[in-house]
Amino acid sequence: MSTSNPSAMSQPIKPGLPDETGTSSGASQAFLASPSTPTESNRLETLRQELRTAFVACRQSTLALIDPDNWDLLCCQSHPDFSPVGWHIGHIAYTEALWILERLDRQKPLRTDFHQLFAADGLPKSERQNLPDWLTIQHYMETVRLRMLDYLAIAPVDRQERLWRFLLQHESQHCETLSLVMALHTRKEAALFPQRAAPNPQDVAEPSPLVHVPAGSFQMGCDRPDALDNERPAHTAETQAYWIDRYPVTCRDFRQFIQAGGYRNADWWSEAGWQWFQRHPVSVALYWVDDPVWDDHPVCGVSWYEADAYARFAGKRLPTEAEWEKAARWHPQTGQSQRYPWGTDTALPQHCNHHHRIGHTTPVTAYESAASPVGCVDMLGNVWEWTATLFDAYPGFRPFPYRGYSETYFDDEHYVLRGGSWATRPWALRSSFRNWYHPWVRQMFAGFRCATDE
Ligand code: AVJ
Ligand code: FE
Repeated sequence: MSTSNPSAMSQPIKPGLPDETGTSSGASQAFLASPSTPTESNRLETLRQELRTAFVACRQSTLALIDPDNWDLLCCQSHPDFSPVGWHIGHIAYTEALWILERLDRQKPLRTDFHQLFAADGLPKSERQNLPDWLTIQHYMETVRLRMLDYLAIAPVDRQERLWRFLLQHESQHCETLSLVMALHTRKEAALFPQRAAPNPQDVAEPSPLVHVPAGSFQMGCDRPDALDNERPAHTAETQAYWIDRYPVTCRDFRQFIQAGGYRNADWWSEAGWQWFQRHPVSVALYWVDDPVWDDHPVCGVSWYEADAYARFAGKRLPTEAEWEKAARWHPQTGQSQRYPWGTDTALPQHCNHHHRIGHTTPVTAYESAASPVGCVDMLGNVWEWTATLFDAYPGFRPFPYRGYSETYFDDEHYVLRGGSWATRPWALRSSFRNWYHPWVRQMFAGFRCATDE
């Protein structure tokens, strides 16, 4: 509803240099004063404004997820892999307080007792249920945010830009996890979805079209201020020639694997995957609903092991991380890497299914006009896509803002996912963004597409 903080919203921001265009100060003066590039000071104030707007919007989305009447329920742990929703909320505010108020502005901690409770390394996930009531958390969040916006108005943000942008993405990512916990049963509500005619029993899935990508180098990673430590530094990467699915694997595609007994056939599985399957003898994807209304949607809720097995069943393999990124952003004519598959514009509703705007997956063909230069569709948004690559540092990696953000996970136990999901906020959505999970995690927001060699 609101950032609950009207005073923060209306607080005056230190004005930048007056904008010379269209002021009443006289056309000739404006003409003389108008430089071709903005001054340093103007840039600083523009950045300040941009950050302020982004933080306010991000927090609005966060608060929209919370129903205060259900707070007690939100403080229960509903799944052993995930912290309670209430913990994520406290952790978001605590992290903002730690990095901005304490580290940058040298303020004393507001609540020393929140350190153990809300620090990432404070308590095990199972002990995060004993949480303060909503009013206490809300008050803490608001106080932190008020002070943070006060500081933003005077901070040397040009020198701190990476940290501010990290925090926006930190809140965004926690909210994605948080809505994952809250939406665990969304797929069971298939009845809410427009009904379609029942499938013709002879309706066999067409083979999924592939896009060809030639061998050669491309620019991988990103050095822009919002790039997280694991995206840096931008560097040249090589790929062989390969083919990659134009679309993510759909539920219609995945049904073939299920119906062919793919889950029970060791031929399709990696050794580790088969071992996992013995201990977790599942027969369909997590939240699988065998209803044709989902046929054109990407399959989701699959572990890396299941994605890898499906790929082998289909005579393909998972793309490497570099192959995925090249297919998403490399432009064959210019040889340059674009920030987004569709170009340079920040993600809008017409580009891809993100930011919780729709509230569920969409058919993989819904965003054809925002295809990447090589012709891949639905690369950003809709579902995260598993890759064949273990999460690791790019050459020259330097941890930021702390080792535990990425470096801790360079352990050869996590696989990279790319592309974001229907819940990913725009601040964490770009072709270079890297996510990572253990290969056994079956996550509602995660699907995949396949690739093959020449
Ligand atoms: C990158 C989504 C795996 O949620 O564990 C949040 C992001 N890191 N706070 C996670 C993160 C620290 C991270 N993932
Ligand atoms: Fe965190």
